[in-house]
Amino acid sequence: MDALELLTQRTSTPALRAPAPTADQVKLMLDAACRAPDHGTLRPYRFLVIEGEALNKLGQLYLRAGLMKDPEMDEAQQKKLQNMPLRAPMIIVIIAVKQEHPKVPEVEQLITAGCAAHAIVQSAFAQGLGAMWRTGAMTHDPVVREGLEIAENEEIVGFVYLGRSLMVRAAPEFDTATLTQSWG
Ligand SMILES: Cc1cc2nc3c(=O)[nH]c(=O)nc-3n(C[C@H](O)[C@H](O)[C@H](O)COP(=O)(O)O)c2cc1C
Repeated sequence: MDALELLTQRTSTPALRAPAPTADQVKLMLDAACRAPDHGTLRPYRFLVIEGEALNKLGQLYLRAGLMKDPEMDEAQQKKLQNMPLRAPMIIVIIAVKQEHPKVPEVEQLITAGCAAHAIVQSAFAQGLGAMWRTGAMTHDPVVREGLEIAENEEIVGFVYLGRSLMVRAAPEFDTATLTQSWG
């Protein structure tokens, strides 16, 4: 795929089906993630690849987190939480690993981790895969953080859902001039 076509035409896919990306496709996505611009080359990120039975385990973790917050949660809501990770055959969790550094503030490290997440989404699209970057209430939940073994100095930047996309949505038209001024 032409690089500029990727950059201007990429769209997300909420509905994703099996099969999960292959090991080679995952490697390419992680190689792309590790090319994110990175002040000080700190590599302030790490990744969890979740597929197969582990998606059910993540659903159980979401349920546990939900019930901790609301023990009276009805069955429909419980099922919804449990099924959330089953919306795709694979999830890659992008975790920002914040490091003390005299020149690179935390915010820049978070941006780098965000760029890594975007590189995963883009390289999925370039390989003909569907991808959707999701966050939501579970992202910062203490039960989920503990279950995924997220350390104190780490933040979940996103859950990128990956799989086969049944339909590629066209990129919406947008006039960048509405956001741009010439200065000086
Ligand atoms: C940090 C971040 C978190 C997001 N979280 C969600 C989410 O929880 N649910 C959702 O529907 N979209 C979420 N999105 C937006 C989608 O990934 C996607 O970009 C959006 O649906 C627009 O589609 P497009 O990428 O095709 O323009 C998030 C995007 C970012 C960058």
